[in-house]
Amino acid sequence: MSDKHGDGDWISPVAEESLGFEEPVMMDGLASDSSSRDGESLFDDLLEGQPIFEKRDVLRPAYTPNKLPHREQKINEMASILVSALRAETPSNILIYGKTGTGKTASAKYVSEELERTSQRYEAPCYVEYINCEVIDTQYRVFAKLANKFIEDNLDAIDEELERLESWGRQLRAGDITTDDLPVDDIPSLADHIERLKDDHDRFEMVPMTGWPTDRVYEAFFDAIDYRECVVVIMLDEVDKLVEKSGDDTLYNLSRINSDLERSRVSIMGISNDLRFTDTLDPRVRSSLGEEEIVFPPYDANQLLDILEHRADVAFKNDTLTEDVIPLCAAYAAQEHGDARRALDLLRTAGELAERDQAEEVLDIHVRRAQEKLEIDRVMEVVRTLPHQSKLVLYSIVLLEKHTSSNSKTGEVYDVYKQLCSTLGSDCLTQRRVTSLISELDMLGIINAVVVSQGRYGRTKEISISKHLDETEAVLTSDSRFTDLGDIQPYIQSRFD
Ligand SMILES: Nc1ncnc2c1ncn2[C@@H]1O[C@H](COP(=O)(O)OP(=O)(O)OP(=O)(O)O)[C@@H](O)[C@H]1O
Ligand SMILES: [Mg+2]
Repeated sequence: MSDKHGDGDWISPVAEESLGFEEPVMMDGLASDSSSRDGESLFDDLLEGQPIFEKRDVLRPAYTPNKLPHREQKINEMASILVSALRAETPSNILIYGKTGTGKTASAKYVSEELERTSQRYEAPCYVEYINCEVIDTQYRVFAKLANKFIEDNLDAIDEELERLESWGRQLRAGDITTDDLPVDDIPSLADHIERLKDDHDRFEMVPMTGWPTDRVYEAFFDAIDYRECVVVIMLDEVDKLVEKSGDDTLYNLSRINSDLERSRVSIMGISNDLRFTDTLDPRVRSSLGEEEIVFPPYDANQLLDILEHRADVAFKNDTLTEDVIPLCAAYAAQEHGDARRALDLLRTAGELAERDQAEEVLDIHVRRAQEKLEIDRVMEVVRTLPHQSKLVLYSIVLLEKHTSSNSKTGEVYDVYKQLCSTLGSDCLTQRRVTSLISELDMLGIINAVVVSQGRYGRTKEISISKHLDETEAVLTSDSRFTDLGDIQPYIQSRFD
């Protein structure tokens, strides 16, 4: 705080005037006097110092770009399979694989939007239904969502048709037109048609989010989809999550549905970043789902560079990125298996850090700090979502690291872990289980565990927290189950340091 009284208190402009100050009082570099007096606020100053982003949202994950450089070939592969839908034929099922951030979702959404748009132009009814199986992860919910979507569409179509037929009825009765002008034989048959549509309307019942037997939900979906002729591509993004959570019944039922449908056709597009998830599928489901497979390779640094440049053009104001910024973001993201999402996150975070510094340009240092920040965020997210027992093991390591000067050994971690369990009244695992949890934490990159020989005492592991000790501790102690531990001191039986 750099106000001229040195006590950090805010002086209101009125008080300041009455005290006869001549210069504006500064708060953290912000002029406080004139802006408030002119009816502006604290935020106007902050907004003024924002010369960097033109459209920040363009760098956010929710944004769907209308151009996907280096995915033209994959997009064409998908389109050449799905084009059958426009000929009212059933497209082969497609399975799309690739590591995270390789553009699978973005490309699939791009293709589906194009397909739906073209289908409107050709009047070949064709719909793409996108389902994120990370969120909708049970058979019930998948079929309920699809059923409700098609029920709504059918009800809209019925309403529209009823309006048309009822208007014909009125005009016929008024003598404005005759049945010769219409595709109906006579007024009674028109009335029959209207009655049938009204019955259909009453028959469609929206599926509740829970409570029905799954068979009934499936039937509702089946009837809704087969009511009007169409080709439906069901896009199951993160399909491995659905299989992991609730097995392969959904895929099995979907892959067999065409043999029972009379009017419509269904094709499945599964997307996954888990290359091995099909191993767990029933062989019939596996061969049906994988009729066509498309693999998305990781991007290399040059491709990431292109992708970033396209997006940065729109996202940033002119001349706000110094020369090295985009190549550096691309290089960092290429090191991490060519993940475009990571590259975009880095660029956005670097811009935000520059903005927070009130810098006029984004510099390499902002990218380096962004890389560090994203890495901490990633590790902390992993820590936050660890199972309770792993958190206890990790907290034991944190306590040892804070209270001793050398790396901890497995036995010491186990002693402190037992102390924490007894303080919290938690179940206590065996040392063997704790050793395997330590190996898991090591694999997740949260700790370093190195096997060392102890001569005739065999081998043990020397364990240390990889990085970010304070952040790790803060995340662990923010778990409400840890509050009873208070300021616990680790009990160390056999240490000489
Ligand atoms: N070729 C590209 N051009 C422009 N932006 C791209 C490209 N590829 C990916 N992106 C962008 O990178 C981000 C991640 O892409 P996307 O979500 O498609 O990855 P994904 O392969 O589905 O990853 P995950 O397996 O984690 O779901 C999105 O913001 C997307 O817009
Ligand atoms: Mg995706």
